[in-house]
This record gives sequence, C-alpha cells and structure tokens, in this order.
Amino acid sequence: MSGSDDWWRDAVIYQVYVRSFADTDATSVGDLPGIRSRLPYLRDLGVDAVWVTPFYPSPMADGGYDVANYRDVDPLFGTLADAESLISDAHDAGLRLIVDLVPNHTSDQHAWFRAALAAGPGSPERSRYIFRAGRGPGGGDPPTDWQSAFGGSAWQRVPDGEWYLHLFAPEQPDLNWENPEVIEEFHEVLRFWLDRGVDGFRIDVANALKKDQSFPDLGHAEESLLEPVEGPHHPFWDRDEVHEIYRGWRRVIDEYGGDRIFVAEAWVHSPERLACYVRPDELHTAFNFAFLQASWAAERMRPVIDSCLATTAAVGAPTTWVLSNHDVTRHATRYARLGDTAPPGGERHVEPDVPLDLEQGLRRARAAVLLTLALPGSAYIYQGEELGLHEVLDLPDEVLQDPVWERSGHKERGRDGCRVPIPWTVDGPSLGFGDGAAWLPQPASWSGLSVQAQTGAEGSVLELYRAALRLRREQPALGSGALRWLDSPEGALLFERTDGRGAATLCAVNLSATPVSLPPGHRVFLASGPLGPAGELAPDTAAWLRPGQ
Ligand code: NOJ
Repeated sequence: MSGSDDWWRDAVIYQVYVRSFADTDATSVGDLPGIRSRLPYLRDLGVDAVWVTPFYPSPMADGGYDVANYRDVDPLFGTLADAESLISDAHDAGLRLIVDLVPNHTSDQHAWFRAALAAGPGSPERSRYIFRAGRGPGGGDPPTDWQSAFGGSAWQRVPDGEWYLHLFAPEQPDLNWENPEVIEEFHEVLRFWLDRGVDGFRIDVANALKKDQSFPDLGHAEESLLEPVEGPHHPFWDRDEVHEIYRGWRRVIDEYGGDRIFVAEAWVHSPERLACYVRPDELHTAFNFAFLQASWAAERMRPVIDSCLATTAAVGAPTTWVLSNHDVTRHATRYARLGDTAPPGGERHVEPDVPLDLEQGLRRARAAVLLTLALPGSAYIYQGEELGLHEVLDLPDEVLQDPVWERSGHKERGRDGCRVPIPWTVDGPSLGFGDGAAWLPQPASWSGLSVQAQTGAEGSVLELYRAALRLRREQPALGSGALRWLDSPEGALLFERTDGRGAATLCAVNLSATPVSLPPGHRVFLASGPLGPAGELAPDTAAWLRPGQ
C-alpha cells in the first residue's frame, strides 16, 4: 500500500452497483443499509475502497444516472443519514468511500429542468440546459443529426417548439457547461459530499460535458453506447475544452487535503487522449478501458499494457486496470467467446449468437485477476466478479429495465445481464440479496456461486480473489513497484515486479492454447488453476512466482 495521501495510486477499489448489492427493506432493490451490512465482507475481501453508483433521488429512468437532486438520497436506497453512516462505517472498517457524480445531465425531474420548461425560450432557466430551435418547416426537425447513446435522436421537442439535447435518454437532459451557474453549482455539490467525508468521486461520462458551440451535423448516425467512440474533433465526445472544468474541480478537491480523488469515466479514442484527463492539475485517475477492450491474446494485451503505463507515467499519474463494470458484458462471458471472434479493441459486449465456452471464460477470468492485480497502479473489481459470475444472457424480455432495450426498438438487450443481484447465500428467496424477490431474477445455478457456498471452498473463485488481494498487500513489489518484461514463450506474458529494494515477484500468464514452461529457479506461490504434471503453466492460467525452489 502507498502512504495514506497517495493511497489511490495502487488501491484496489470495489464497485458496488447499489440496486443489486444487498436489499434490507424487501423492496427488491439494494440499498445503503445493505451496503453497510456488507462492509465486513468487503474489508475481509481485502479491498481498499468502495465506489458506490448513484443513490440520489431519481425517477430511475437510467438506474439512478438521472439525478433529480444531487444533495440527497432516494428513499428507495435510504436517507441522507444512511449515506453519512455508510461513509463513517466504511472509514471505521478501514475502507475509503467514493461516490458517483453525474455532471453531464440531470433528470428531467430536477428542479432546474422543471424551471426551464416553465420559464420558456430565451430564459436564464433554459440556459442551464441546451435548448435550440429546430430545423425545417416549422422547426419540426431536430437541430442536428446527433444520436443518443441509447438510440434515436439526441434531441427532444418540448410543447413550445424548442428542442433540448439529451446524449442519453430523453429523461436525462444535458446541462449547458458554458453557463457559469452550472460550473458553480457542481463546485458546491463537490463540497457538499466532501464536507460529509467522501474520499472521492467517480465522474460519469467525464468526456461529454463540452459541446461544439457551432452545433455541426455529424454527417452520420452511428453513435451508440455499445460502440467505441470517435476521436478528438467530435462535436461532443472528448473535446479539449472539457479539461478547463476539471482544472476547476481539482482546485476544489485540493482545498480538502491531498487524499481525496477523482476517477474519470471517459471512453476515449486512445491512451494518449485518456492521459490528458490525469495531467497534474486535473483528475487523479481515469478508468483504463483500452485494457478492458483488449482481447485475450498476448500480442493484443501487451501493447495495451505498455501504452497505458507509458502515457499515464508521462503525466505522473497511475494507470487503473478495469475488466468489468455495470455497462459491459461481464468479462468471464466476454472471454468465453470461442476462437478469435472478438473485434480487435472492441471487447465490450458479447453479441447474441456468438458461440461461447463458459468454462474457458471462467478460466481466463481467474487468470485475468492475477494479471490485473500484478500490474502497477490501481485496480477495480466489479461486484460479483469475485464470485466468477457470468453475464445473465437469458433474462426474460419483460424484466429488462435498461433504457437501451426500449430505445433501440428491442434490437439491443442492454446492460441488465451484468446487473443481476448478488447471491450471498445458498438459499433464500433471492439467495440472501434480500428477504423477497430480486429486481432481476437470479439463475438457480447462482446458489452454488454464492458467497456462502464459496467461502472456505478450496479452489473457489472467491478464495482466489481473497488470496490474491492478501498477497498483493503483503508483497511489497506488487501494486506500487516497477514492471519489467521478461522473455516469454509465444502466447504468454511474463513480467517482473520489483520494489526498488531487491524484492521481486514474477507474474506469468499463459494466454495460448498450449502449456508453457515456467522460468527455472522460481517457486509458484499462487496460481489461478492447476499446473501441468511437470509444473508447466496450463492454457488460460496465470501464476505468481518468487525466486526459490
Ligand atoms: C455511464 C454510466 O456508467 C451508465 O450506466 C449511464 O447509463 C451513462 N453513463 C449515462 O449516465
């Protein structure tokens, strides 16, 4: 672990998707008291911090990413007092707590948006959002051809004839970040939660806040949450002007001492563009989605690791390693694709009808966590990956809640399959998630994957994660040390981590289909699966080694 001020440089951060973590009041939806009740689990798992997805008052048009009030808690999730207790209980358990901030858009039920609708065209209230006149006869066509990430036009018409921009659902109107009032409001929101003791903020779509003020047409219409985004001259993704906002936010967070942090969610074109967000006077960290999107092949993974390390090091920031979150197909399922069927660099979602070998996916996911936790920097764990959960691909149509399902005209099933509530116990109405049913049904097979079933079970995914996290804390060279690549057989990765005091740990990952031999003079102290009869590393297996026989 790094010292307390720079804890975030090598922290392991666990993502709690609040709706699906633990339900204490039989609403079928998880809540803040549920997270509090599971803090001992998270502490014992061995993570350093917890990031909790939005819990603010919301009509839930997008799982809470449509915020109606940034300074309170939705009754479905608890009260403001519950949030304060969660922060202090987390601290008592030795965990840091990161909250989710959604600055690109509010809910259409936010007081500002209601006021904007009531006040009419040209009003100061409307200038907090992006309202424009339409085109064509009677202004009946949208102001531009921009598409919502959830499908359809990104513009919605209001009764007086103006249109407002929503890069996501129509219930999520985009704020106007040209307006100083918006800038000031978010400084105050940051202070509100910093004053309550949070250790940081995850910034939702951090790359979308600034729009090209000439509002040009894109000329094509394929923007989708499910596709990689375009480069730096796009009218709304990843514009250079967005960085002014984060320089202002950095000044605010620095007023609170050096140990509170930001992590940007920014799906950008390249590691170079991502590094711009973590320059010394901007954000501390950003999710590294290039790694998440790299296919399971040594020749794809290694260059991504190198470029992510180099680009962040050039600006003095650590890299983050992420394999799953609530927006992408769980990686145990992505890695289950047979053959080389993943589009290069496009590993976010598994398309329907792709042939899958779920055992292969799980083997690779087990190896991937040893790879991830051996890389320099900070790592994220998405709830349930430590249980080896797969994406639930067969949710019935009628339970789907992701707006992507409706907005795509039922062409894209959306992200519910990675949001199915966590199985805590081998039985019970929702496997310990709550006292009643869960908001999305859990597969019956998840009983055997529950925390209860896996605790103490030799070889379980949960015990592998626990061992890896414990050893990462104990091994001085993991986390914050340097990385040096060593010669490795084709299809494998081998690297050494050193802490500058001579201690070394090796990580070997066999991403190929044939066994590879391990370096002589070293002893395996953790492996993701059984070694071969002569001590060789089986396909889709990783190991940590140290010098010795
Ligand atoms: C990214 C969030 O992770 C996702 O869940 C949400 O739908 C969009 N941003 C819009 O807020």
